[in-house]
Amino acid sequence: MGFMIAIDGPAAAGKGTLSRQVAEAYGFHHLDTGLTYRATAKALLDAGLPLDDEKVAEKMAQEVDLMGLDRDILSAHAIGEAASRIAVMPAVRRALVEAQRSFSRKEPGTVLDGRDIGTVVCPDAPVKLYVTASAEVRAHRRHDEIVAKGAEADYDAIFAEVKTRDDRDMGRADSPLKPAPDAHLLDTSEMSIEAAFRAAKAIIDAAL
Ligand code: C5P
Repeated sequence: MGFMIAIDGPAAAGKGTLSRQVAEAYGFHHLDTGLTYRATAKALLDAGLPLDDEKVAEKMAQEVDLMGLDRDILSAHAIGEAASRIAVMPAVRRALVEAQRSFSRKEPGTVLDGRDIGTVVCPDAPVKLYVTASAEVRAHRRHDEIVAKGAEADYDAIFAEVKTRDDRDMGRADSPLKPAPDAHLLDTSEMSIEAAFRAAKAIIDAAL
């Protein structure tokens, strides 16, 4: 079994960028577990299947190929929304968590990021980070990302979406988003990407 780094946090807190940088710096495998929920949701949408049938969604979750997850194809906003809806279903979570756990054991080490990595998927990970930022800062980051791509963005609508997603992820009964008791909190509201990476590296180096 390799060294495990668990990174959790709400949408747009910067955990994706941080996870990729950490994995690269240590030569570890990286899994963005949000993509597994997104791939399941996209498969349902593409097949014209309902998002609220747990048995059907479970079957789709069992067929997700962790090696074939394409961030560009899965990044659409509608897929993220659908993902957070199917992520409330225990049978979907069980299927995806099993696949995520077997990924997490790869040598020489892994970085998994998501909502329940430190609490459910890898509760024994020696390093757990909970990356957060205020809802306003996260909405501004989303807004600026969209504008940078040359598209139109409405800050108030994005802020409302960030809040809705937070409420759903933190309020669900199965594996709600919350920091593990032994997680290191990293509030990136006023931190640059470089500063967040340096803070994470100091924590990881102390545990290696
Ligand atoms: O992180 P991302 O926005 O890609 O995740 C999409 C949705 O998948 C989240 O809003 C959340 O509901 C769900 N998710 C989850 N558990 C994870 C990762 C993502 O429930 N470990």
